[in-house]
Amino acid sequence: SSGAARTPDGALSVAGLDLRALAAEHGTPAYVLDEADFRHRARAYREAFEHAFASIGTGVDVYYAGKAFLSVAVARWAHEEGLRVDTATGGELAVALRAGIPGADIGLHGNNKSDAEIDRALEAGVGRIIIDSLGEVERVAAAVRARGGEPAPVMVRVTTGVHAGGHEYISTAHEDQKFGLSMAAAHDGAPSPALTALRLVLDHPELRLLGIHSHIGSQILDPSGFEVAAHKVMGLRAELAAQTGVLAPEVDLGGGFGIAYLPQDVPLDPARLAKDVASAVQGACVEHGTPLPRISIEPGRAVVGPSTLTLYTVGTVKDVTVGDGPEPFTRRYVSVDGGMSDNLRPALYGAQYHAELASRVGDEAPVLARVVGKHCESGDIVVHEVRLPADVRAGDLLAVPATGAYGRSMASNYNHVPRPPVVAVRDGAARVIVRRETEDDLLALDLG
Ligand code: LLP
Repeated sequence: SSGAARTPDGALSVAGLDLRALAAEHGTPAYVLDEADFRHRARAYREAFEHAFASIGTGVDVYYAGKAFLSVAVARWAHEEGLRVDTATGGELAVALRAGIPGADIGLHGNNKSDAEIDRALEAGVGRIIIDSLGEVERVAAAVRARGGEPAPVMVRVTTGVHAGGHEYISTAHEDQKFGLSMAAAHDGAPSPALTALRLVLDHPELRLLGIHSHIGSQILDPSGFEVAAHKVMGLRAELAAQTGVLAPEVDLGGGFGIAYLPQDVPLDPARLAKDVASAVQGACVEHGTPLPRISIEPGRAVVGPSTLTLYTVGTVKDVTVGDGPEPFTRRYVSVDGGMSDNLRPALYGAQYHAELASRVGDEAPVLARVVGKHCESGDIVVHEVRLPADVRAGDLLAVPATGAYGRSMASNYNHVPRPPVVAVRDGAARVIVRRETEDDLLALDLG
């Protein structure tokens, strides 16, 4: 995070707090979250998009995608920085409500929402429900009918056919996957599922069509995918207007903005991205002769990812001779006290991370090392390849940067390992915002 630095004797600090002191007080592994960095990124996205869209003449709402990491504290910070909160389940909705976020500032997603989730969202008066299938149009309408009251504000999530993102599993707008409604017309010439769903929404007095939603993928580093998607969605909006006379007032372009994981990575720049997307939106509206919609976006990773590092303690160090060919080499395996239970991304996506010795600078020249966890499988890798001082040894602290997004939120209890705490640091002081799980927490679920 931007608040990371070295103390005079070589230890890593975050927001003015020496990580040795943090580890001594809170233990390891721990997610260490720099609150100022989180707030800064939230603000940077909001301001960049507000500025770019104000200059073409429309407004923007930024939703923090809670799936990346949600707790009561971060939901509040996001809201204090002028963001709304995007939730994908009843559980995330419950956290946002516990944080005191007004229903009107919350959105609910999900490709398979339960009746209970839909009802809870209506009860909370959420600002929007993002409809993900034709059947859901009827289900949300029926829930509104049963409750009575105002029509529910809804968006329809469409797939534009744009391929984007860091890995097949996190790329969401190509056709052969579970999310959204396709914009492609059927082979028999029937209208696309997207257009059909939008028209179906307009046919239901229990629903108020807020707009069209597109999310093209995650960890995207090239803005052109957003420009193509913006063009396509504006075309669909114009087509709906031509057919029905109803111009959807809003368009959401989703999240997916890529961050730096390795020192050499270049993240998406919010100002540049916002400018490019704004001119694509403007160009498409001019082309179709439609007034501009209000825009929203849903960044998760780009807000919380870089704010957090995971702090581990080194245990076993083992040199392994690799290969029996003419040039065998030695790989140093550095084991830490966590692993795939606190960061599934390397095992699931082959995601790359960096690691640094955090308790001191190290005395010897770096060697090629692999940082691994403590779980019972060989794919339990934390950092595939990193140069670490040759004298790294048991008891040293290691920091793995950029673990704030989809780290704690995808953590598991594999091997009955309690999940680490999230410790927020601000102005040299630490506060636990999610406490460490205990063995008793886990045993309490086991009814014998
Ligand atoms: N909006 C929608 C509708 C989404 O599906 C997502 C992410 C986001 C926003 C936020 O995307 P972000 O800005 O955080 O990239 N577990 C994977 C990422 C899955 C993303 C799922 N949807 C990973 O660790 O890379």
